[in-house]
Amino acid sequence: MKKIIIVAIAENNVIGKANGEMPWHVKEEFKHFKDTTFGFPVIMGRKTFETLGKPLKGRLNIVITRNKNYSVNFDELIIFDSLEKSFDYCEKNNYEKIFVIGGGEIYSQAINLVDEMIISRMKFSAEGEVVFPPINESDWEIEEIMDRELFKVFSYKRKNAQ
Ligand SMILES: NC(=O)c1ccc[n+]([C@@H]2O[C@H](COP(=O)([O-])OP(=O)(O)OC[C@H]3O[C@@H](n4cnc5c(N)ncnc54)[C@H](OP(=O)(O)O)[C@@H]3O)[C@@H](O)[C@H]2O)c1
Repeated sequence: MKKIIIVAIAENNVIGKANGEMPWHVKEEFKHFKDTTFGFPVIMGRKTFETLGKPLKGRLNIVITRNKNYSVNFDELIIFDSLEKSFDYCEKNNYEKIFVIGGGEIYSQAINLVDEMIISRMKFSAEGEVVFPPINESDWEIEEIMDRELFKVFSYKRKNAQ
């Protein structure tokens, strides 16, 4: 099972605002996110889920929280109290790949655990307090770069990955 981070990062490394909002709305980037993740489990932190307000359609949504009493009533949604438990669950259910979709706290932990990263680098800076963790470039190779009008998509693969 491939574990993949997918994220959009502004030129100044910002990925979101402290109040949960995304600082930009770029239709083509949302479409890329949807097309890439559709049909696969998406794993997110509780704060990102609450910003979305409801599960993303056509995907198993997994929400991570330390609150053992956290409960929301949606189909296609499961709650775990650790990232590792969510990975184990997906592994046992034979998913070919899963996507870690944020936010900042979850990316910081997942960056050491995932096999690949699909990073949209936006061609602008943005205002916000939540940033993507530092990438140790020597751990990764860039396999592909796709150029779009307002962003470039970089596909990173961990160097020791099979
Ligand atoms: N640009 C992008 O591609 C992108 C993508 C996604 C999100 N975002 C942005 O990112 C921001 C949200 O990020 P964030 O860092 O504030 O929050 P977050 O990562 O979405 O969620 C943090 C929460 O996840 C839970 N959590 C974290 N680590 C855990 C662990 N090891 N075990 C169990 N639960 C754990 C905790 O929930 P509890 O407090 O309930 O315990 C924690 O408060 C928003 O601004 C959003 O718009 C941007």
